[in-house]
Amino acid sequence: MMKRVCLAAVLFVVVLSATVLAAEKGTASATMPTLRQAAGNRMLMGASLMSHELDDARRAAFIAEQFNCLTPGNEMKPDALQNVKGKFTFERADKIVAFAEAHGMTMIGHTLCWHNQAPAWLFMDENKKPLPREVALENLRNHIHTVMEHYKGRVKGWDVVNEGLDDSGPYLRDTPARKAIGDDFIIKAFQFAREADPDAELYYNDYNIEANYKRPKALRLLKELKDAGVKVDGVGIQGHWLIDNGNIKEIDEGIKAFADLGLKVMITEVDVDPLPRRQGAGADLSATQREGLDPYKAGLPDDVQQKLAERYRALFQVIMKYPQIQRVTFWGVDDGSSWLNDFPVRGRTNHPLLWDRNFQPKPAFRAVIETLQQSSVAK
Ligand code: G3I
Repeated sequence: MMKRVCLAAVLFVVVLSATVLAAEKGTASATMPTLRQAAGNRMLMGASLMSHELDDARRAAFIAEQFNCLTPGNEMKPDALQNVKGKFTFERADKIVAFAEAHGMTMIGHTLCWHNQAPAWLFMDENKKPLPREVALENLRNHIHTVMEHYKGRVKGWDVVNEGLDDSGPYLRDTPARKAIGDDFIIKAFQFAREADPDAELYYNDYNIEANYKRPKALRLLKELKDAGVKVDGVGIQGHWLIDNGNIKEIDEGIKAFADLGLKVMITEVDVDPLPRRQGAGADLSATQREGLDPYKAGLPDDVQQKLAERYRALFQVIMKYPQIQRVTFWGVDDGSSWLNDFPVRGRTNHPLLWDRNFQPKPAFRAVIETLQQSSVAK
């Protein structure tokens, strides 16, 4: 009898502590599973983050609770890892990898070759002229080898080349890498990556490649890689989508085109922007212009919340059709940490993710959870 009373008391304390802990984290929900729970084994649920976000214990606990996959938002880019030639600085990226390992999360590396956030010396001389091909190739090879060997066995897959395709031009973006090396810089980057870690998955990552205007360029690139004997494991469709644009069918067709090639498809940087877009909107706007472009400073009105939720639902309904999609990564954790607060206009109050600035789930979160659950039931 005494034993039973003790057991009941212990159970009570355990349940109480779990409830208090969850309440402290501010994430407890009696009815809703977490994102990673709802996705189960069907696909990874990822987020991008910056290493300093892990210094906030509540945020760190929230990230580990909701997601099972991490991508560093900036810490694995060339300027973060090798801003000065030959001087590798892994500390901030290591911190994210250690956190992922401590919480049983999968790590994705982003990115080994990109025209942004890359030091000039990689592909240019001191006069900003392209380096000779062999010198540029050796810089690229050494960067890729050193980084991938450092993370061997700890990073599941890499965005080897990011945004190598041109939006308006006929094919490749005319980056410093292309100017120095030539059109085969993407092939070379994949070859170096395969040599450096034969077990890592290698992805080509870009935005809008699911869209009609850019998809043919991506398909051409993937074919050229294949013809060159380069094995690409998957394609990363970034997924920086807008609330208003009605292109669900186009997105569906885009995913299908890549899946039909026998490639894994990752949706790598998801957010849905509910703010008005204006081409060329710089930071030097008048107060009135800024007011019109920043309409939800006090919060997202209910009707827009619903619209955002339905947009997320429609996107996830498409995503769940494809077993080739093995990961969805959101670009940021909560609305407060989204890059879209500063793009294309700096200092706006944006609301593109599933949780608000206080980690409260939005209707979009419920829509995503419901879609994930319905799809797992249907299987
Ligand atoms: O670290 C400096 C800080 O010292 C300085 O005070 C501050 C002033 O602006 O800038 C800080 O650097 C910023 C950095 O993010 C870290 O916050 C840069 O200005 C800012 O440009 C940089 O933005 C990053 C952007 O890539 C750069 O292109 C975003 O965080 C990052 O989320 C974004 O991610 C990209 C993906 O890599 C590729 N796909 C598109 C996506 C969104 O642009």
